[in-house]
Amino acid sequence: MNKNYLIDTHSHINMIENLSIEEILKNAAENNVKKIIVPAAEANDIEVVFELSQKYENVYCYLGIHPSEAKDWNDKIEEKIRSLAKSQKVVGIGEIGLDYYWDKSFIDLQKEVFIKQIEIANELNLPVNVHDRDAHRDTFDILKEHNKNSKVIMHCFSGSPEFANECIKEGWYIALGGVVTFKNAKKMKEVASIIPLEKLLLETDAPYLTPVPHRGEENQPAYIKFVAEEIAGLRGITFEEVAQITTQNAEKILSI
Ligand code: NI
Repeated sequence: MNKNYLIDTHSHINMIENLSIEEILKNAAENNVKKIIVPAAEANDIEVVFELSQKYENVYCYLGIHPSEAKDWNDKIEEKIRSLAKSQKVVGIGEIGLDYYWDKSFIDLQKEVFIKQIEIANELNLPVNVHDRDAHRDTFDILKEHNKNSKVIMHCFSGSPEFANECIKEGWYIALGGVVTFKNAKKMKEVASIIPLEKLLLETDAPYLTPVPHRGEENQPAYIKFVAEEIAGLRGITFEEVAQITTQNAEKILSI
């Protein structure tokens, strides 16, 4: 059971501008990142991320519509998600959720589209990869009411340690990325220190949220090692332990 490699559970490799997909995957492989999951955000991403998952053996995808793009939702997209999700390389519905940071003018629509996509995940027995920005309470309540299989990943978790524990009590996973390496990210460092390791996942959210020491550059899956190193340091355990447990967790929840 020695899983001495890393998995990037949320990485928009299709949005990285300065590197080709081949370069991204080569850098990842050189840094022992063996599997990468690419989420859809806009309607146009759905085919793009699906194609990537079909073309490259170690690339998987989540299909869904990001809350900021909730206006994109329609029956055709739903049909497309349902039909593409027959592929083994589609490992979840995402990224879906609520975002009250960018635009609060269509919260009802965001909720409606979020619920609809949770129901699809229930039916297909897939995990949901959840985006929650400044919407912790509503996101939690909707998931608790509508998600039926407890296969929930709180992507780019940004809540308090107390909120992390509430999510974990429901059986959900907490995914942490580059923010945990930021000097002033006290709350995230605390979350990374206290949550049970068997509920922890790693991600980059590339091209965003680049970890120290590359902050300011474009992010890429290869940089996930800095997140693992930081968490190992915070918890007083080895890099290998963080790699092994988070990889095991990811393979379990995503069935990969
Ligand atoms: Ni994302």
